[in-house]
Amino acid sequence: MSPLKMAVPFALLLLLFATAKAESPYRFFSWNVTYGTIYPLGKPQQGILINGQFPGPDIHSVTNDNLYINVFNSLDEPFLISWNGVQNRRNSYEDGVYGTTCPIPPGKNFTYILQVKDQIGSFYYFPSLAFHKAAGGFGGIRILSRPLIPVPFDEPAGDWTVLIGDWYQKNHTDLKKILDRGHKLPFPDGILINGRGPSGASFTVEPGKTYRLRISNVGLQNSLNFRIQGHKMKLVEVEGTHTMQTTFSSLDVHVGQSYSVLFTADQTPQDYYIVASSRFSTKILTTTAVLHYSNSNRPVSGPPPGGPTIQIDWSINQARAIRTNLTASGPRPNPQGSYHYGMINTTKTIRVASSAGQVNGKQRYALNSVSFVPADTPLKLADYFNIGGVFRVGSISSAPTGGGVYLDTSVMGADYRTFIEIVFQNDEDIVQSYHINGYQFWVVGMDGGQWTADSRNQYNLRDAVARSTTQVYPKSWTAIYVALDNVGMWNVRSEFWARQYLGQQFYLRVYTTSTSLRDEYPIPINALLCGRAVGHHKRPL
Ligand SMILES: *[C@@H]1O[C@H](CO)[C@@H](O)[C@H](O)[C@H]1NC(C)=O
Ligand SMILES: *[C@@H]1O[C@H](CO)[C@@H](O)[C@H](O)[C@H]1NC(C)=O
Ligand SMILES: *[C@@H]1O[C@H](CO)[C@@H](O)[C@H](O)[C@H]1NC(C)=O
Ligand SMILES: *[C@@H]1O[C@H](CO)[C@@H](O)[C@H](O)[C@H]1NC(C)=O
Ligand SMILES: *[C@@H]1O[C@H](CO)[C@@H](O)[C@H](O)[C@H]1NC(C)=O
Repeated sequence: MSPLKMAVPFALLLLLFATAKAESPYRFFSWNVTYGTIYPLGKPQQGILINGQFPGPDIHSVTNDNLYINVFNSLDEPFLISWNGVQNRRNSYEDGVYGTTCPIPPGKNFTYILQVKDQIGSFYYFPSLAFHKAAGGFGGIRILSRPLIPVPFDEPAGDWTVLIGDWYQKNHTDLKKILDRGHKLPFPDGILINGRGPSGASFTVEPGKTYRLRISNVGLQNSLNFRIQGHKMKLVEVEGTHTMQTTFSSLDVHVGQSYSVLFTADQTPQDYYIVASSRFSTKILTTTAVLHYSNSNRPVSGPPPGGPTIQIDWSINQARAIRTNLTASGPRPNPQGSYHYGMINTTKTIRVASSAGQVNGKQRYALNSVSFVPADTPLKLADYFNIGGVFRVGSISSAPTGGGVYLDTSVMGADYRTFIEIVFQNDEDIVQSYHINGYQFWVVGMDGGQWTADSRNQYNLRDAVARSTTQVYPKSWTAIYVALDNVGMWNVRSEFWARQYLGQQFYLRVYTTSTSLRDEYPIPINALLCGRAVGHHKRPL
């Protein structure tokens, strides 16, 4: 082919690529990441701040916006931010986990360029390296519907991010040391609501008005129950899906999950407790915030209202009651897009079982017996530059092997544009929570015991929710359907952070032989290079 013939389609594609991005607005953020002293449980400790804030600032955006987030790392360690639930379509380079993106060295900066393409909803960002998440560096992300797209409820009088999570008094370097020495973490010391301990956070409401809370569990391991004294909550959105508007008096939020609820300030004007308490734990940790009516003349008093503690059936029943509103729009006016997930045959079943064990006398956690260890080079960059010996596709089996735990850089291969079933089996006594970067998946079923082919008879093939994080109850399974429509190297992980850190994760390499920009973007021009990727050319010459 002559150089001219080659140049024309390439230029055309570039043009298409440029116009697709240019239609949508750009939003610029400049973040300075520093250490700072915080007092979430009353005593001073070293936290990770963004622009001086803990938690970090919210990202507000609208469907299809292009976000430019320039992150200056003023810590003394490499740093990365990942975007829980944001799909980064065609662009896993911006995913901000070590398998896809080089860390920002201390004293340096990197601009993430994300397009929140075809998404709405409530999500959060967090620092993904080392054990930084235990020190802060997280914040809310909201993607609003475009102006002409109907939202299935009236505009609320207020719309607040509520980040809940368990918390340790020990700092992230001390916690990481415990794990690096091969031990388990102790039970957390407390729970925070928006970075504050008991009665620290406060929300002021006008009587009679309705408010939206975007609740995310940004903690390290505990499922939490969330409730507002004397008020009911109407669930309206789960990780980008508008739900059937069901009313709950309390809501279980597993680690890594996000929910939007509406509540109306329709009670006697006074102050009420907002409560988050640990679930499925023998010791119950509880914290409160204050719901303050603007005309209140009575502060909160007495014990905060109790909630469910160890009951698993209660939680499963609530999970099954969370359904998609099939007539409400998502990012586009046609509610379900061009196909319905329940009408498509899956082409493959992947079964993933978690386990815990010792390797060389140290605690490790595994999926299908493989405990993930990072390579010396981000896997996505090794793939792009054809650097051999960094990872092997197929280094994790697509079904449990039953063998003991061993270490490897686990990467599972999958074909672009296939529609697959993934079954998460949990034979342990803890609640698991799994997240897949780059995707929203349908949670079609969950139940106690071992999953078998007959379990499919009870799948919800009508109105399951599409989300990016699902729980798996103790000695239970959860099944999901995923349309593999996003090429890239995507992190599949436990959101139980010590388990993720000690190996309970792998990468799903969604692959196509196509090199078209319609399928995947090239490596970003500003990408940092590290490991064996140093010195490679980012663009074909
Ligand atoms: C970040 O904050 C630190 C501490 O306040 C300051 O020394 C540094 O200049 C800031 N960097 C940027 C890029 O703003
Ligand atoms: C964490 O605390 C230890 C003391 O327990 C201290 O030596 C270390 O510098 C602290 N790390 C950070 C990042 O503040
Ligand atoms: C670092 O920040 C500067 C602006 O201060 C920007 O021009 C540059 O592109 C950023 N570097 C990266 C790698 O994004
Ligand atoms: C579902 O969405 C429609 C369309 O916006 C709305 O009118 C209806 O109230 C919603 N139904 C429920 C149960 O949430
Ligand atoms: C799914 O598989 C069934 C049974 O093999 C077949 O009858 C049906 O046509 C398939 N549906 C689609 C949408 O391919």
